[in-house]
Amino acid sequence: GGGVIEEVKRKAAYQAVDHHITNSVRLIGIGSGSTIEYVVERLLQRGKEANANFVFIPTSFQSRHLIVHNGLTLGDVDQYPEIDVTIDGADEVDENLNAIKGGGGCHLREKVVAEAAKKFIIVADYRKNSKTLGEKWKQGIPIEVISFAHTRVIAELKKLGCENPTLRMAKAKAGPVITDNGNLVIDAYFGLVNSPGELLRKIKLLTGVVEVGLFVDMTDVVYFGNADGSVSEKK
Ligand code: A5P
Repeated sequence: GGGVIEEVKRKAAYQAVDHHITNSVRLIGIGSGSTIEYVVERLLQRGKEANANFVFIPTSFQSRHLIVHNGLTLGDVDQYPEIDVTIDGADEVDENLNAIKGGGGCHLREKVVAEAAKKFIIVADYRKNSKTLGEKWKQGIPIEVISFAHTRVIAELKKLGCENPTLRMAKAKAGPVITDNGNLVIDAYFGLVNSPGELLRKIKLLTGVVEVGLFVDMTDVVYFGNADGSVSEKK
């Protein structure tokens, strides 16, 4: 049930913090989603003084809120275009550590802050651990698009082989999900993605696409919380 999953998400997040937020680290990118909350929880256990040395760079409205409301120091990529480490969640991670991200619609800023970091670390539970992308995350690859072009991009995604690209709709409001950047999100399921780099380049070239939720050759380490309560480190 949810209890076990939350427990292993917490364990994975704690291990990532314990292994990588060391004395030599100062600038930390904070991802989005529910697993990342345990990263912040672990950091807060060190106390106010220990955290005073760090500057935290957010990847979304949610992540910014998490930083600010826990009394941590907020930074900005404009101030810190090069940071030490970014920790983030993911929707699926394959055997080569390529990932699908953007289930929360935050993949554009997440990718910017991941690329800014010397080290990019993912924390996730076992439901996200797969051999090939598309095996577990069936909702499709999240694609942020400008509103004006969304119907055009849907038509082009069909030509690229996606049967049913879907505009992501809001749950607690009538109408589409609007990202932190004022754009829309299309979810495009392509089945098993054997060449994520190739697919990423094809989608990114479509006019009106802002960013694709495929993170290819970016991840340094993943911590998976396993069903049996253990944590595996993959690099
Ligand atoms: C946000 O856009 C995503 O990339 C998240 O990082 C992802 O959805 C992970 O969220 P959970 O930790 O809640 O699974």
